[in-house]
Amino acid sequence: MNAPKIPFLLTPGPLTTAPATREAMLRDWGSRDGAFIALNRRIRERLVALAGGEGSHVCVPLQGSGTFAVEAMLGTFVPRDGKLLVVINGAYGHRMVRMCRAMGRAYATYETAEDTPPDPARLDALLAGDAAISHVAVVHCETTSGILNPLAEIAAIVARRGRRLLVDSMSGFGALPLDAREIPFDALAASANKCLEGVPGMAFVIARRDALEACAGNAPVLSFDLLDQFQAMEKTAQWRFTPPTHVIAALGAALDAHEAEGGVAGRGARYRGNRKILVDGMRQLGFETLLPDALQAPVIVTFHMPADPRFRFETFYDGLRDKGYVIYPGKLTVADSFRIGCIGQLHEAEMRGALAAVRATLAEMGVTQCGRAQAA
Ligand SMILES: Cc1ncc(COP(=O)(O)O)c(C=O)c1O
Repeated sequence: MNAPKIPFLLTPGPLTTAPATREAMLRDWGSRDGAFIALNRRIRERLVALAGGEGSHVCVPLQGSGTFAVEAMLGTFVPRDGKLLVVINGAYGHRMVRMCRAMGRAYATYETAEDTPPDPARLDALLAGDAAISHVAVVHCETTSGILNPLAEIAAIVARRGRRLLVDSMSGFGALPLDAREIPFDALAASANKCLEGVPGMAFVIARRDALEACAGNAPVLSFDLLDQFQAMEKTAQWRFTPPTHVIAALGAALDAHEAEGGVAGRGARYRGNRKILVDGMRQLGFETLLPDALQAPVIVTFHMPADPRFRFETFYDGLRDKGYVIYPGKLTVADSFRIGCIGQLHEAEMRGALAAVRATLAEMGVTQCGRAQAA
């Protein structure tokens, strides 16, 4: 096989970006210059439009990785005397609990196994039984397993119970449909370097403007105060602190490509195609997915570790990387596993190339039994 010089990243971000996105970083921008200010404004407007929030929602960008935006969202929106119910079925739900502890916010949890979506009826009962819960936080696609959580049902229950919803849509935003006109939420956090196919270094929160404006005095720290960031940006059109200019320029180019591909629908369709090629091909080789197809988001797929004693993940990983394809280790507690992503600048050719690399690497390792241990 002819390995590409730079491997394709079949990972959930950072991921493989388009040449135009990388090229957009080849110039320097003055952060107080009109051209940069216009670029920044336009990007914020486009992100709000992608969420169906024009007229009702605003985009507050933040330096840093996705975790920064999630932490800023919780700290800004959950009042000091509020209580957050965290819906957990993976590592990113657990991380929100750690944030609550670090900030000293009261919280409760509703946890299901990593391969099990939350039950909307159970959530309803939990809200009915605890009047102190002011907010609910949920992960849209739990990247730990790749599971798609029932966001619309959860949002409807939270609204019916008069509570506020905060969404971590980090690995779904831009490819999974999420329309603020249909799904009521106060805020959602996402980042540049996942389904929007930008580069790492910037995240953002899409917030209902009136909910955000009611958050004065909530944030435990200045840097993560989204209301302060928003008000400063509205007033001066500039970032409060040094903006990641090159990352923002790359996101502008990535959003052009997103639009040219047909927006959320077009991007989601390509990722669903990638997932199908990947899952069909891996199943033909005998691998088993953690999730049934109905629960599997088109973002990242978890496979059970094969039973074959000759299979060593590190050797498999290195073999694939040497052939030009980088995959991801597992992050599950329920099963021994590894993950392969479907997002980024990956098309049919790259997905088929990755499958060919899997076949060749298994042959090199002498692995013949790809089913999981219990099923062998
Ligand atoms: C659902 C979800 N939330 C939060 C994060 C954290 O983002 P970051 O690693 O950029 O801090 C990730 C990262 O993969 C994620 O998938």
